[in-house]
Amino acid sequence: MKKLGILNELIKYSNGNVVSFHVPGHKNGKIFEKYNIDINNIGRLDITEIPGSDNLHAPDGMIKDAQEKAKRFYGSDYTFFLINGTTCGIISMIMAVTNPGDKIIVQRDCHKSVISGMILADVAPIYVKPEICSKFLLSMAITPQSIEKALEKHPDAKAVIITYPSYYGICSDIEKIAQVVHRHNKILIVDEAHGAHLKLSNRLPISALDAGADIVVQSTHKTLPSFTQSSMMHVRDGKIDIDKLKFMLSLNQSSSPSYLLIASLDIAMSIIEEEGKFLIEKLIDNICDFKRQISGIQELSVISQEIFGKYGVKDIDETKLTINFRTLGIKGTQVEEILRTKYAIQLETADIYNILAITSIGNDKNDFLRFSRAIKGIYDDRKTPHRTMENPEFSFAIPDMEFLPREAIYREKTSIPFIKSNGKISGEYIIPYPPGIPLICPGEIINEEIIKYVELLKNLGIRIIGLRDESLNTINVIQ
Ligand SMILES: Cc1ncc(COP(=O)(O)O)c(C=O)c1O
Repeated sequence: MKKLGILNELIKYSNGNVVSFHVPGHKNGKIFEKYNIDINNIGRLDITEIPGSDNLHAPDGMIKDAQEKAKRFYGSDYTFFLINGTTCGIISMIMAVTNPGDKIIVQRDCHKSVISGMILADVAPIYVKPEICSKFLLSMAITPQSIEKALEKHPDAKAVIITYPSYYGICSDIEKIAQVVHRHNKILIVDEAHGAHLKLSNRLPISALDAGADIVVQSTHKTLPSFTQSSMMHVRDGKIDIDKLKFMLSLNQSSSPSYLLIASLDIAMSIIEEEGKFLIEKLIDNICDFKRQISGIQELSVISQEIFGKYGVKDIDETKLTINFRTLGIKGTQVEEILRTKYAIQLETADIYNILAITSIGNDKNDFLRFSRAIKGIYDDRKTPHRTMENPEFSFAIPDMEFLPREAIYREKTSIPFIKSNGKISGEYIIPYPPGIPLICPGEIINEEIIKYVELLKNLGIRIIGLRDESLNTINVIQ
């Protein structure tokens, strides 16, 4: 067949011998091949609810058994398999723990699914600012003190939502945060999209559930060997209305769940139950070797244990390798391109200063050897003299909110020149990467500091997302 456009592209990529340092965690299926897991004939395996195949929305057979296995592993009281990603889990959690009009405390650099959940649930966000590291220009941790302050100021808030670990592996002091939240008799919701593997080793940060979270969602597909879009939710007994949660899950998930996704969650559980501890120790050793191999390049820095105790950071998930090229004077985005085109290494992401490699138990020693050789090659080939790239200063102060996110979405909007938007209510997001913290959300008032900062970022070539007009010459404001 000639017209199988997407499939042909997928096959082409899969034949390219590319090292995967990006999600999903099965790393181009390498780990399935290693354990002879026969998923080659996907057409035959793609069934629907038929006698004997159970039902994700009311499981009492093989899906129930698989969920029970996961529940035992993670030590939860309830575990739900999700086939619409962590996104549907986060939206469902927010809708389950709140009623329209409620308040929730949320870190400003949350994933967009948290904002979507607040829009759908019609709740008011109380934002808490994360600490920021200016060298990496990345947001770091949320401190227990900032959560405590927000709870004291808003005793009527229903819950607190944090991201743990961050995309870059940064871990806040979740145990202390859980104590603070519970002292105020609130619910701790954790977006653990990037932490499904933490339970595998005590050389990794504590898992959110073990640290005291009441309800957690993990993108199993990101860091463990399951298919993209397959996730899990874990719940502790006590504070969560399970019937309401189940209803919200059925509202936000497909009524035709993919058995390939469901089966892949069970495959991931089988692999980690039988081999997980051995594989994760090998992975951590390979990461240590990799760091040693590039340690001779003084100009590079890897986010690592030296930042413990700074910026509120309690721990680091070192399976995520964030390497900063700022002192070398090469943009992270250039490094990403060279790694991809010259060395067949695909990273998870890159920005002006950093590259991010997401590793997993699907990576082997050879992947790390290729990576360290490539980094040394890029260093040896560099043509430009060293120069440090400078950051513009910015307070990251949270702007005043005129309308809640849901109301802002439905209001009439008009497009005006961005430089003339001071004092207007934004109808859009402005989110620069890095650090991924919204400068403005819909319903918030644009100020002069934001306008000046965005002009500087544009000149530096920093990526800004969330806007209809990507050049940011114009912005939609609420009339
Ligand atoms: C912090 C965080 N939370 C939630 C999500 C959503 O996860 P999923 O892609 O499984 O829907 C992501 C996805 O990138 C994420 O980075």
